[in-house]
Amino acid sequence: MKHIQVGEVDIPGQVFLAPMAGFSDLPYRNICRKWGASYAVAEMTASKENLQKTKKTSLRMTLNEESEPRGIQLIGSVPEELAEAAVRVQAAGAQIVDFNCGCPARKVCSVACGSALMKQPELVGEILQKMVSAVTVPVTLKIRTGWDSFSLNAVDIGKLAEDTGVKMLVIHGRTREQGFKGEAEYETARQLKNAVSIPVIVNGDINSGKKALDVLQYTGADGVMVGRAALGNPWLFKEINSILSGIEPQLLKRSDIEDTIIDHMKEHYAFYGEMLGIRTIRKHLNQYVKRFSLNGDELQKIYLAKNAGEQIERTRDLLGSSRFSVNVFEE
Ligand SMILES: Cc1cc2nc3c(=O)[nH]c(=O)nc-3n(C[C@H](O)[C@H](O)[C@H](O)COP(=O)(O)O)c2cc1C
Repeated sequence: MKHIQVGEVDIPGQVFLAPMAGFSDLPYRNICRKWGASYAVAEMTASKENLQKTKKTSLRMTLNEESEPRGIQLIGSVPEELAEAAVRVQAAGAQIVDFNCGCPARKVCSVACGSALMKQPELVGEILQKMVSAVTVPVTLKIRTGWDSFSLNAVDIGKLAEDTGVKMLVIHGRTREQGFKGEAEYETARQLKNAVSIPVIVNGDINSGKKALDVLQYTGADGVMVGRAALGNPWLFKEINSILSGIEPQLLKRSDIEDTIIDHMKEHYAFYGEMLGIRTIRKHLNQYVKRFSLNGDELQKIYLAKNAGEQIERTRDLLGSSRFSVNVFEE
């Protein structure tokens, strides 16, 4: 498997988990890494110092038990604040600091950060310059193709980022205007890859090994980043890695699925504590249920479990009694 060099940091593979606020927490990043994600950046963290002190944000920033390389994504629009935040996250153990210019959420864009910054290249340049000079670890940038189809400026922003010293670019093949709708396009990523010499990672609708291979071949990019398709499906990383290595992907065993889901639940409780954990794991269980067309009614019983032991038991019962509808299993 090809390694990706991000400044001094070596990423030992080409397939990354995308940052997904609310989902890509430490337990899920660990599960995805176990199944072959070679890098998984911690979710977006507000750059304002007071926000970083909230419980939710400090959990997002917890890096202690994460395997290397450890990265944190920052969002914001004030260069000095972002530079200070970068210093703080480096001190907290980040080996890579990522800057988010891709998030389309209204909450984010109304204060002109996330993908709204694609409209303000000079400000992006200033932010990146300040971040790069504030830390010794590499700074990376996640962008969209542009604000809308009339302003596809990812290549310009990518070149500008490289000039400021950014060490890797991730491009989501949609404009801000598209949100998550329509199909991702990869032509802009191909042009970006041709225009810069730092690694370029392609993101958007990568949902199978074949798709990953096609996109890498088409764009010439260095790696792929997988978001929604990895929800409830950490095994996808193994499939993609197999295809990229020219190996026929092996069928998953039923026990692989069951053990992974139960391990995920246990890691989740250990991280969030039992009472918060049995509530917050629901969104992940919901993803697994959707992925495998498990019996959704049973989910209610799992949701209503009063403690972790009961929730695990009920999940085991559901998994044991279900006929999975996806053909990836060996009994
Ligand atoms: C629930 C959710 C939360 C997300 N949160 C973030 C985030 O915090 N930072 C970010 O850069 N992108 C975020 N994204 C965007 C993803 O990283 C990714 O760019 C996008 O989902 C496209 O990839 P996909 O088609 O593989 O899902 C989020 C996406 C989803 C679905």
